[in-house]
Amino acid sequence: MFRIDLLKNKRVLITGGGTGLGKGMAERFLELGATVYICGRREEVLKQTAAELSGATRGTIHAVPCDVRNLASVETMMDDIWATAPLDILINNAAGNFIARTEELSPRAFESVIGIVLMGTLHATMACGRRWLKSTHPGTVLSISATYAPVGSAYVVPSAVSKAGVEALTRSLAVEWGNRGIRMNAIAPGPIPTQGAFSRLLPHPGLETLALDRNPLHRFGTVEELANLAAFLVSDGSAYINGEVIRMDGGEFLQGAGEFSSLGRVLTEEDWQAIKPKKSGPTSKN
Ligand code: HXC
Ligand code: NAP
Repeated sequence: MFRIDLLKNKRVLITGGGTGLGKGMAERFLELGATVYICGRREEVLKQTAAELSGATRGTIHAVPCDVRNLASVETMMDDIWATAPLDILINNAAGNFIARTEELSPRAFESVIGIVLMGTLHATMACGRRWLKSTHPGTVLSISATYAPVGSAYVVPSAVSKAGVEALTRSLAVEWGNRGIRMNAIAPGPIPTQGAFSRLLPHPGLETLALDRNPLHRFGTVEELANLAAFLVSDGSAYINGEVIRMDGGEFLQGAGEFSSLGRVLTEEDWQAIKPKKSGPTSKN
């Protein structure tokens, strides 16, 4: 669906790029000609992904171990990358999440998720942003949020507060840095099967069924669909899109929000027939 040179000469860092959606974006960006850096905490996972993708695609991929919670590590990673050439694109994709009853969470549990999702995104965004502003180099930041960020969600509270912060950061800096060539956007995906997400958030088959029932398309999203949207949003073809959070969930969010949306699953054919106005004879003229 894209020109094969869409991301030629673009240098991209994907945090959490060793697995799941990050890996899928890395693959797509490489196919479109980008040079890709992936970071994460587990060096072996990164190396394995880099080896797999460099064999299968035509771009260049580099694996950089880095914990985004640690500002010093993020700065060192950026210095190392910039020693070759500036990045053009940052994807804030690294995350931590799990379902739990909020009253049972320890302070460390909050810190862990907020540290990865919110502080990690801040660290990487500021590290790139400052370098771009200093050298008047244009840049694009795309963060991966979640559909519950604007409304909150029970049982994933550390993630919900963090993703809400990520979206606020996106909208704020889109305005503050927009006049200096930096674009900020986010994608809010609905459920997309990845080992990392589904093992922690939908640990029972029953929960998967529930999630499918909540979706008008009655299916999950795919890594390829997410990667294609990301490729468009970081490409120069979307240069006028700035400060947006694009939901990609098959309409799941809207189905949950609509007062009468569940009627299609609750009312039977007979119920609908019974609700219809009864056909009566010719009406009077007044
Ligand atoms: C309650 C938990 C917990 C759980 C961990 N903790 N898991 N508490 N319920 N299920 C607590 C621990 O007891 C500990 O607190 C604290 O959190 C830190 O845990 P650690 O294991 O020491 O932390 P760490 O090794 O840094 O691991 C971070 C993590 C882990 C977030 C807990 O799950 C992780 O590494 N996740 C990375 C990948 C990931 O989560 N991917 C899914 C993203 S999907 P104490 O007090 O005991 O020390 C996503 C999708 C959203 O975001 C939308 C889907 C539709
Ligand atoms: P995933 O495979 O678990 O990806 C998370 C990645 O983040 C892993 O590669 C992990 O690698 C990395 N990471 C975690 N902590 C890190 C840290 N401190 N520093 C650097 N990297 C770290 O899950 P996913 O489904 O692909 O999720 C990717 C993104 O999509 C996340 O932002 C998530 O919130 C979002 N999302 C996913 C879904 C879905 O249904 N899949 C839906 C909505 C939003 P290491 O463990 O090696 O560090």
